[in-house]
Order: sequence, then C-alpha cells, then structure tokens
Amino acid sequence: MKVDVLLGLQWGDEGKGKVVDVLTPKYDLITRFQGGPNAGHTLEFNEIKHVLHTIPSGIFRDDKINVIGNGVVIDPVIFKKEIEGIKKLGIDLSKSLFISKKAHLILPSHRILDAASEAAKGKSKIGSTLKGIGPTYMDKTGRNGLRVGDINSNFKEKYELLVAKHRQMLDKFYEFDYDISEYEADWFEGIKILSEFQHIDSEQFLNDALKNEKSILAEGAQGTLLDIDFGSYPFVTSSNTVCAGACTGLGVAPNRIGNVIGIFKAYCTRVGMGPFPTELFDEDGQRLRDNGNEYGSTTGRPRRCGWLDLVSLKYSIMINGVTELTMMKSDVMDDFESVKICTSYKVNGKEVEHVPYEMTDDIEPVYTEFKGWQTDMTAMTHENEFPEEFNAYIDFIEKETGVPVKVVSVGPNRAQTIDRMID
Ligand code: GDP
Ligand code: IMO
Ligand code: MG
Repeated sequence: MKVDVLLGLQWGDEGKGKVVDVLTPKYDLITRFQGGPNAGHTLEFNEIKHVLHTIPSGIFRDDKINVIGNGVVIDPVIFKKEIEGIKKLGIDLSKSLFISKKAHLILPSHRILDAASEAAKGKSKIGSTLKGIGPTYMDKTGRNGLRVGDINSNFKEKYELLVAKHRQMLDKFYEFDYDISEYEADWFEGIKILSEFQHIDSEQFLNDALKNEKSILAEGAQGTLLDIDFGSYPFVTSSNTVCAGACTGLGVAPNRIGNVIGIFKAYCTRVGMGPFPTELFDEDGQRLRDNGNEYGSTTGRPRRCGWLDLVSLKYSIMINGVTELTMMKSDVMDDFESVKICTSYKVNGKEVEHVPYEMTDDIEPVYTEFKGWQTDMTAMTHENEFPEEFNAYIDFIEKETGVPVKVVSVGPNRAQTIDRMID
C-alpha cells in the first residue's frame, strides 16, 4: 500500500482539517508529519466545531489509528488541553492515538525564546504564532533537543540542562523579561498525560502497517509557501511542509508515496508577516475576510486576504508533485459580481510566470477577470448543479495547472463537500 499525502498549497489555513476528516473513512491510519501547535485545523460536523493543533484530524472517526510522527513538535501543555477537549466529547483516545518516540518536545523556554526573538526583531518580525516552533526545531537540528522517548530516562536532568542553555541565551542575547517557572508546573502535568499514551517507533509501525496492506493518509500542517526551504523565507515556519516532509517526518520512503492531494482556497489568505502579491486592501479584501470568517484558528489574528495566485499555486504543485486538487471555500465568493485570478507577476516592470527568488513586496500581479457566479452554492451536493460561471473558474484553474480539481468544498461542514469524480 501507499501513503497518500494531503497538503496546503498556500500559506496555511486552506481547510486541511476539514478535508482530512472527510477523507478519513477511506484510510486505516491518519498521521501528522511536521509542525506542531502552530497549526489550527478546524472540523465541523453534527453541530460540533472543533479545532485541533497537534492531534491528527482522523480522531473523530471510529476504528482509525492516528499517529503523531517523528517530524512533529509537541507542547505537552497544549497536548493536554487537546486531550481534555476531546474527552469532553466522549472520545477515548488511549487506543487510537500513537506518538513517535522521536517527536521533539517544545519546552516552556522555547516559547519564551520565540517571543524574545520576535520582540528583538521589531518591525521585521516573522509574526510567528509564539508557540516556540522555531526554537524547538533549532534545538532539533542543533542536536540539543528533548524527545518523547526521553521522558523515561533521566528526564528531569536532561530538561534542566536544556533550560540552563536557554537561560544563557536569553540573558546574553535578549533584553526580555521572562519567568520560566510560570509555565513549568503545567508543562510537567502535560508530560504526565503524554506518558499515558503509547510511544512507538513510528517509522517501523507505519512501514509494518504498509506491509500489512493498511492505507495511510499523511496530514500536512501549514502550507507550501511557509516551507522552510521553498516558502517566502524568512517569513516561513521552521519545518518542511512539502510532500518530501512526509518522508522524513514519518520515515516512509519516497516510492511509498501515492496520491498527493493539494488543497487550496479559491482565493488566498495569509497570517503573519511576509510578501503576499495578490493581497487586497480594499472592499473586496474585507468582504473575503467577512464572508470567509478569516480569523486565525490558533491565534485569532485577522487573516490577510487576496485573489487566487496561480503563479505560486503552480509552484506549489510542482514542488509537491500534486496529483489532484481540492478547492476550498469558493462559497465565500458566492456573492461577488466579479472575481480575479493572478496569472503572472510584474517584477520591476518585467512580466514573469515563476516565483522569483525574492518574493518582495514590489511584485505587481497581472490578473484575468471572471464573471462572478452570484449563486448560493452552500447547499449543493453535485457538480451538475454548478453555475456556468463557476465551471469557467474551475476549468481555467485545471487548464492552467494541468491537475484535476477533484473535490470542491462549499462550506465548513463535513457534508458540504462535493466529489466531482463521483456520478
Ligand atoms: P487548516 O489549518 O488548513 O485546517 O484550516 P483552518 O481550520 O485553520 O481554516 C479553515 C477555516 O475555514 C475553518 O474555520 C473551517 O471551518 C473553514 N472552512 C473549511 N472549508 C470551508 C469551506 O468550504 N467554506 C467555508 N465557508 N469555510 C470553510
Ligand atoms: P495551519 O496548519 C497559517 C505562520 C505564522 C507565521 C509563520 C511562522 O493551521 O495551516 P511559526 O509559529 O510557525 O514560527 O510562525 O507561519 N503559520 C501559519 N499560518 N496556518 C498555520 O497552520 C500556520 N502555522 C504557522 O503566522 O507567519
Ligand atoms: Mg489553520
């Protein structure tokens, strides 16, 4: 069997959580392979709205195994809250959630370092979620990190050693008031909860599952344009959000990857700082934000909004080897008189169709305009109900990218999902 990978193709918040929940019945195992509680994945069904940060979005379906892979970073405090929230819904995760021993832990001092680093950057800050993601991955690649598998061996000693290093850094490099102890008691409570789950050699576990004909879905976090290598550096996150990240973040070989499902919004959003060529500062931008309720699931920050950007979408499709597309939130534009798609950039007056090295703020988008469909599509269940103007919008995207738009999502609920390949 293969591992199918589901990824965001923009700057995150494309609707990955919703689609993973919709697709879960088709798979035996759902896995997260990178990122941490910087992610906020929203699921809506049966009057329930739930946001997940660390736990894969397969947990609301019966008889599925969910795995937090080695590439993920875990904050025990946030993990504990997530577990408590899910328990309240009457779901017991003790038999369905497995955690890689190799996943790294976010320490209270990582969060403080994140905040200190952002404060020191001032105006040029990344706009991080302040969850300690960057400093934790720095310790991972710097070979100083603490992992889930360390919990049972001299853990306190290893913890103190790393915190001492962080204190030195904070005192030497930053002018920043901090109190590590404030968060520590909660953190060790979280470690207790984390210890109650099954810690596994996830690479072995997953490869054994594949050998036993089990199907696996890998759930991406963030988006391709936030990838540490291919995103709009330095305004990125600190992990490989692209398809290759699923190989390293789970321990599965590249030839084990099957379908690559690329998720994009019918427009674009971004939270945090960094270039965004099609960003709108006008009424249309505000309308996208209002209609789409574009406020961060993790931080509550208003999301920046703009038209769909095909230049970067094609780039993301290329990097990930996307085999099928899922278009999200087109309903947000249901009442627009006209909509636009950016097909090239003007950089210093010269038209380019590729993402330039520096995605500076000077990029001027070149647009193709489409007539709006001006139809409420939120109750539609089949593509034969789609208005002509909407079909024109999708046809254009398929023609330009060369990849089929297999699924269209017309609302946040599980049920508002239309598979175009089903009769
Ligand atoms: P993720 O991080 O990619 O999982 O996405 P988020 O959950 O952060 O953000 C997506 C938001 O859009 C959530 O509030 C979802 O409930 C909502 N959503 C998902 N799909 C649709 C859709 O097709 N239409 C509308 N209107 N909202 C959607
Ligand atoms: P999901 O999985 C949207 C953004 C932050 C910031 C940059 C770096 O819900 O799509 P970090 O805390 O990772 O160091 O922040 O990345 N960012 C996200 N934006 N959705 C996310 O996750 C994000 N995770 C991080 O806003 O600009
Ligand atoms: Mg999100």
